[in-house]
Amino acid sequence: MVAVPAVSRGLEDVVALESRICFIDGVRGRLIYQGYDIRDLAAHSSFEEVAYLLWYGRLPTAPQLAELRGRLGALRALPPELVRQIDSMPVGSTPMDVLRTSVSALAMFEPSETGPGASSIGGAQRLTAVIPTILATFHRRRAGLPPLRERPDLSPAAYLLYALVDREPTELEARAMDVALILHADHELNASTFAARVTASTLSDLYSAVTSAIGTLKGPLHGGANERVMELLAAIGTPELAETVVKERLAKHERIMGFGHRVYKVEDPRATILREWSKKIGEAKGNLRYYELLRKVEEIVHREKGLYPNVDLYSGSVYSLLGISHDLFTPIFAASRVSGWTAHVLEEYQDLRLIRPTARYIGATDLAYLPLAQRTG
Ligand code: SDX
Repeated sequence: MVAVPAVSRGLEDVVALESRICFIDGVRGRLIYQGYDIRDLAAHSSFEEVAYLLWYGRLPTAPQLAELRGRLGALRALPPELVRQIDSMPVGSTPMDVLRTSVSALAMFEPSETGPGASSIGGAQRLTAVIPTILATFHRRRAGLPPLRERPDLSPAAYLLYALVDREPTELEARAMDVALILHADHELNASTFAARVTASTLSDLYSAVTSAIGTLKGPLHGGANERVMELLAAIGTPELAETVVKERLAKHERIMGFGHRVYKVEDPRATILREWSKKIGEAKGNLRYYELLRKVEEIVHREKGLYPNVDLYSGSVYSLLGISHDLFTPIFAASRVSGWTAHVLEEYQDLRLIRPTARYIGATDLAYLPLAQRTG
């Protein structure tokens, strides 16, 4: 009798491949990029240094980091054909739709050395450099902000902030954004990274793989949660009402966004760091309202459901305090995760195996074909 393999819904606990890029210890609440603990990277590194680490598997020397900074600064501009396409998109479009469409279209205007054909680190650097410009080109038009100016002097984090809120970020604001980008850069085989690897495993190109990932990240069970956390805070209003609102939603078996995780069985270490930054930026801005509300919601959800916060619980409060529109939160997630997506795609190309699981068929078999004239419904 041949053993029938059990179905694992959502591929839960299925080990699909081996990778050197990211390790999540769900029991101890640890996150490691290429051997380095996220707490060390959030304390001492920069997004561009982490992108280098994900792509090359080692921390850069000073000259290597300077060279990468220069390349990322030089790769930010969009081809005029794409600017025209973005300018033709309805101002009411969802920024994640604008991003997904623009990355897909960009592939057709790229020169060979950084285009999809390269499917190399050059393409990874191009996509990492250009996503903030795509977002800003759309957002500045709908917000009536002046056109984006070249700012090769700004780090990726400072440039992203300048591009989206049109002012020079303070050192603290730029550091908050840098830490957020570090924390979101990679997370093993999350849904969007898996989508990118599935696409790459067919030998499709880097831009197609990132387009698949963006469409996947858009979902509220994955990347879209931090926007909905802010909607929850708006619905609660004051800490006194938190208990009533949260319990009402739990009673209706609704998910409280920003809580729970498929892998972490304890607190997501990124939530720990983002909670500190939510307080730090709140104190700097004289506005601890989000932080205090979130602490109250945390206490209720943990007491009622035993759930811990994930990366999405505090990120929205940091972005809001930085003056960023809510519907740009998930695109910011993409602006960071593109470094991880592209690292995984390149790893897939190195050790290629078509990703093709099976399904257990539970439908009928051997039905007799009935000619159309004899079918009565
Ligand atoms: C990200 O995979 C990654 O690594 C993703 C990510 C990354 O960096 O790429 O970490 C980023 O996506 C973070 C997650 C953001 N999403 C949310 O915050 C949405 C809310 N969270 C849930 O939808 C849920 O926790 C998931 C989707 C994150 C994980 O869901 P699972 O592993 O499929 O867990 P489950 O649905 O089987 O739930 C187990 C139980 C259920 O209770 P019962 O029905 O069995 O009684 O826990 C409950 C769920 O109802 N539960 C929740 C809950 N999450 C789980 N109940 C209320 N609110 C929640 N948020």
